[in-house]
Amino acid sequence: MYRAAVLTVSDRSFRGERPDAGGPLVAEILKQAGYEVACTAIVPDEQPQIEAALCRIADATDVQLLVTTGGTGFAPRDVTPEATIAVCDRLTPGIPEAMRYASMQVTNRAMLSRAQAGIRKGTLIINLPGSPKAARENLEAVLPAISHGLEMLSGVPADCASLSK
Ligand code: MTE
Repeated sequence: MYRAAVLTVSDRSFRGERPDAGGPLVAEILKQAGYEVACTAIVPDEQPQIEAALCRIADATDVQLLVTTGGTGFAPRDVTPEATIAVCDRLTPGIPEAMRYASMQVTNRAMLSRAQAGIRKGTLIINLPGSPKAARENLEAVLPAISHGLEMLSGVPADCASLSK
């Protein structure tokens, strides 16, 4: 079983002005998919705080998957992608490409998500949009393929050719 963490990025949820709907939903989807959700946290839309939380969770906890929700749009305070790029050793562009491709079948506003994904040491970080509906649609588009990536990341010999999908 892989261990996951969920980081909600939202000024209003951080200040307690709005309940965090996206984070608990993402955690529930991950649990349903067989992940142990080891850590959840909320930070405001401040790049240094997002970077610090990503590093703390990825480096100090044994999680293989770290999913963020929120802050991927065009608003001036949407900086989750920039924080993610700053802390990753390697980007994994296929994951946001797949999320946007699948989401474009739902809404052409999918192109407005600037979500990124990448690897920091042994942790895969994936950005999701902030609305619970969008977070679900994006996560469910990529989750089936993610476990194979985590196998490779953890050094488990993984045979890509044996997979039919
Ligand atoms: N993707 C899916 N699947 N469904 C959606 O409703 N909303 C889009 C986009 N991606 C959406 C989506 C919209 S309207 C925006 S502005 C961006 O995600 C960024 O969202 P965020 O600013 O909440 O991170």
